[in-house]
Amino acid sequence: MTDRYQQFARSGLGRQLVRRLGLPNPTPLRRHKPGDPALNGPALVGAAGGARLTDTVHTVLKSAAIEVLTEPLTAPEGERAKHAALVFDASGIDRPERLRELYEFFQPVIRTVGTCGRVVVLGTPPESVGGRAAIAQRALEGFTRSVGKELKRGATVQLVYVAPGAEPAAESTLRFLLSARSAYVDAQVIRVGTHGTSTAEPEDWAKPLDGKVALVTGASRGIGASIADVLARDGAQVVALDIPAQGDELSGVANRIRGTAVQLDITAADAPAQLVRHLGERHGGVDVVVHNAGITRDKTLGKMKEPAWDAVLAVNLASQLAINDALLDEGVLRPGGRIVGVSSIAGIAGNVGQTNYATSKAGVIGMVRTYAPLLAERDVTINAVAPGFIETKMTAAVPLFIREAGRRMNSMSQGGLPVDVAETIAWFASPGSGAVNGNVVRVCGQSLLGA
Ligand SMILES: NC(=O)c1ccc[n+]([C@@H]2O[C@H](COP(=O)([O-])OP(=O)(O)OC[C@H]3O[C@@H](n4cnc5c(N)ncnc54)[C@H](O)[C@@H]3O)[C@@H](O)[C@H]2O)c1
Repeated sequence: MTDRYQQFARSGLGRQLVRRLGLPNPTPLRRHKPGDPALNGPALVGAAGGARLTDTVHTVLKSAAIEVLTEPLTAPEGERAKHAALVFDASGIDRPERLRELYEFFQPVIRTVGTCGRVVVLGTPPESVGGRAAIAQRALEGFTRSVGKELKRGATVQLVYVAPGAEPAAESTLRFLLSARSAYVDAQVIRVGTHGTSTAEPEDWAKPLDGKVALVTGASRGIGASIADVLARDGAQVVALDIPAQGDELSGVANRIRGTAVQLDITAADAPAQLVRHLGERHGGVDVVVHNAGITRDKTLGKMKEPAWDAVLAVNLASQLAINDALLDEGVLRPGGRIVGVSSIAGIAGNVGQTNYATSKAGVIGMVRTYAPLLAERDVTINAVAPGFIETKMTAAVPLFIREAGRRMNSMSQGGLPVDVAETIAWFASPGSGAVNGNVVRVCGQSLLGA
């Protein structure tokens, strides 16, 4: 679906009107294309005293072919130097008075962040330190979320808490957040290493899923089709699943990515057993399971009929739990496995007419939080994305006024694309992301809803 306002705002007349009336002017986001450099320019790197992650940052940036600066660029008189990224290691801040070190690093350079630039703050999980250090580390959240609201022109900011001992395992996360793959992920707080599993650095970061088998539910269209595309691009053999009624579109996707198609209703009583058989016999197991299939049946609670409640809870939550249990119990999900759920900001903020949907999507968050420590013992991770407004058939059906509000009420003043959700899922799925477990990452351009 096209965003006509965004197109208009970039036309000659549109640009003038937008400027005069102070209307939002969405910047076209830079998105990953194979072969592109991770960043379009140098990254300025700084650290608070006692920082733990500085070596990791330098190693990762070097291996991702990103130019590292330890002093800000200077520009000729009248011009402004541009940094493609600012990375600050705040992990050593051990008391609130030292939060001033954030100000000292960022204040002189924050306005030098380029178009679609990246800001990353690294910290220590507050729960792993306690006392005044925990207070100071928790304070980093307020800083990053505010910077997200101040940054312009498609730039993003994230806070990454890296647990002590997990420093080298932060590479896949840093690469993702600094690259154009995270175009619509903004102002997120990500934890690395708190329930970590084994991490295997991919031989080729452009094809991290080589040799892996990935199941994607609801793969015939929308976000699911994009997830299938991106996982296949990253090297996975994709098993694309959807209901029989979507058979033609599903075959189209499977053929396009040289994957296979499975026509199955995931709510069928025998669906878990059928999947165990299919994945076990045809593929010898599965490495990545993406629970993307989802439905809405919107009505305010007083008017909602039982079937609407039951269907949404069955597709969006119960079937996923049954499939997880079967794949784990039968040993079909291999060690090193990845489960990824698709929640929604409705599951965080709630929404009128969506008690059933928001309950199911909050349940997905519950599934992630509950399973993460348990699955870590089996060398499997579980995470979820929580998309905001994504341009799909689902959101095209939303009434115009609500649709426009959804598109503009975020720091990017635009909706995301299915590929933005897919790229985030591909980061979770990477063998390099073994230390990323139990996270729910919003792909919402820092939506005001539930913020
Ligand atoms: N589009 C958005 O803005 C947005 C926002 C937040 C969350 N999400 C979530 O993202 C996911 C994908 O959304 P979308 O916009 O691409 O929706 P969509 O309706 O275009 O696609 C969903 C797919 O799931 C399949 N499906 C439904 N019931 C199924 C069943 N019982 N068994 C197997 N497959 C089934 C459908 O046939 C369809 O192909 C959903 O979980 C949705 O809740 C979407």
